[in-house]
Formats: sequence, C-alpha cells, structure tokens
Amino acid sequence: MVQTHEKTATSPVNIAVIKYWGKRDTELILPSNSSISITFSKEHLQSKTTIRASPLFEKTRLWLNGIEEINVINNKRLQNCFRETKLLRKEYEDKLSKEIGIDNVIPLSTYHLHICSVNNFPTAAGLASSASGFACLVYTLSQLYELPVSATELSKIARQGSGSACRSLFGGFVSWQMGSKQDGSDSQALQIASSDHWPELEVLICIISDAKKGTSSTEGMQSTVKTSTLLQHRINNVVPERMKLMTNSILRKDFNKFAELTMKDSNQFHACCLDTFPPIFYLNDTSRAIISVITEYNDKSGEYKAAYTFDAGPNAVIYALKRNIPEIINLISKYFPPNQDNQTFFSDPSKLFSDKK
Ligand code: PMV
Repeated sequence: MVQTHEKTATSPVNIAVIKYWGKRDTELILPSNSSISITFSKEHLQSKTTIRASPLFEKTRLWLNGIEEINVINNKRLQNCFRETKLLRKEYEDKLSKEIGIDNVIPLSTYHLHICSVNNFPTAAGLASSASGFACLVYTLSQLYELPVSATELSKIARQGSGSACRSLFGGFVSWQMGSKQDGSDSQALQIASSDHWPELEVLICIISDAKKGTSSTEGMQSTVKTSTLLQHRINNVVPERMKLMTNSILRKDFNKFAELTMKDSNQFHACCLDTFPPIFYLNDTSRAIISVITEYNDKSGEYKAAYTFDAGPNAVIYALKRNIPEIINLISKYFPPNQDNQTFFSDPSKLFSDKK
C-alpha cells in the first residue's frame, strides 16, 4: 500500500509599522529598506494550509480558498518556495541515508504535492493575505519535510514567496533586516520581542472594503522604485533612523513614540505611492476620514492614544492601549456605523499576538 504524507498548519497575518516598499532585487525579493511589523493572533486573520505528498500524484496542484486552482507551473514565487524547501529536504534525506540506510528514508523530496490553502478573511484586499499565505506554505512544507531548520532560515524562503511573509514566521514584534549580501543570505526576519512583551497593546481592524486591490504590491513597488524621488529619500535618510527609534519604543513600551512613528511611516509610504508616476491611490475617502478622526481624537487627548496604519489597500489598522479601546470603538462606530459595505472588526483583547504557527 502506498502511504500518503500530510501536514496542516496555520499562520497569522502581520501588519507593518515601518513599511517595506521597494525591492533592490526582484528575483530574490530583496527589499530596499528594512521593516518592522506586529504579528496578530490567529483567531481572526489566518491562513490554513494542508499539504499532501504522494508518489501517485502526477503533478503539484494548489487550490486557494477551496475554489480557485492556481497555475503553479507559471508561478515563480511558488516555485521558489518549492525549490528551496525541496533542496533542504534532499540534504536531510542524504544525511539520514548515511545514518539509517537509504531504504529507511522516505524520498518526499521527489513526490508531487497537493495543497489546499484557505484564508479566513478577504484575499488580496490589503490585509496581508500573501504574508500569512506564503508563511503558512513554507512552514507547512517544513513540517511535512521535518526540516531541522530555524524560523529565521525559513523566513529567507518565505521572503522569496512574498517579501512581508518572512515576518509572519515569528509571533510578537518582528524586524526584517534588509541585509547587504547579493545572494540574500542575510535578508531575514528576527524577533524583536515576543508576543507577551507588551500585553497592553491592542489592535482594531476596520474593514472598509474587501475588494481586491487595483494595483498589486509587486506592480506598485516597481513603479515607485522607477519614478519616485521621495522613495529614494525615504530609503536613504528616513528608514534607518526610524528602525532604531521604533525598536526602542517597542522595547521600552513607549506608546506615544510608537504611535507617532507608526502614523508618520504609514503617511510616508502613501506619500511615496502618490509620488509614483502615474500615482497609485490605496487610500479612499473613508480611509482619509479615519485619519482625520484619529488625529482629532489624539489632539483633544493631548497625547497619542491611537495610531492608524494602512497597507496597500483602504482598510485601517488602529493600534492603541487596551484601556483606550472602548473609547476608540465608540468613536469609530459613531462616525462609521457598520453596514454591509463597511464592517468594523475588533480583535479579541486577550489574543492580539501569536507566537506559534
Ligand atoms: O510582501 P508584499 O509584496 O505583499 O508587500 C507588502 C507591502 C506592505 O504591506 C504595503 C508593507 C509591509 O511592510 O508589509
């Protein structure tokens, strides 16, 4: 009887507070700047992936969200993840062969795969679905192949699927160090602090639209790199200092500084999109109205009580301290009452973060 090998794992979304935008190498997915993000809990935004390997499968196939079959052959990013994990599995099989004999080693690296991946939230709507999706693919493969490697090693593979995916290999507060080597061997994710480091920090996600974004982050980044002079200023003069300040604000749990940097960095990322020619607009009128409401709320409070940030889409992510969350929920619900097109989701206060897949 032929044995089928199967593994399932889940991975959470991460949302950057220092944004990655721009690649210095589009093949290896090497970023133009380092970035920092926070990994959410898996309760609300997660990818779940099941992978089967069998000698009976004639080709590798992947289904997304139960309906759409993805063409894996022409998908370079998927092929990168398969190639790199298979290579590690082959090395592991060779090592095992020497130790326990070739007949006792299952040649999983030669089998085709059947993969099912499901997101429990809108895909490609600027809510980091590619981050959790590719992190989950690489993590599940590492489990299936029983790879004896660290999360940082896996982050270098996930990066080649989708840049921001490398940060979802860790829970808590995570940096993606851009690295300087040409082969990308030092462009990897590292944990700044674990998920229980800052339990007072909470997140609120406002789903303004779950429509697929008009300009993908890959296309958007390429045009920004080609045409924006503001991006060059950001890469050279702004992000390096912000990486240090943001890391310190997290380690010292200084919400005021954290909030200021988070909002400034989101603003500058969207300014770079506007500085792209032709310009890219990810924010819509509702996003801008949320920025105004939060700005006024902070002004009236005399301190930063809430920090907004937006990725490549109109949906708002608001960071705040737990004690201020009820006030912020009231504020947002007053100005933006949830309806069919404009739902507001709140995370479970006790479960913002996740440390494990
Ligand atoms: O990893 P990508 O190609 O989906 O790019 C993500 C870019 C942003 O979400 C806008 C910023 C970030 O650092 O996550």
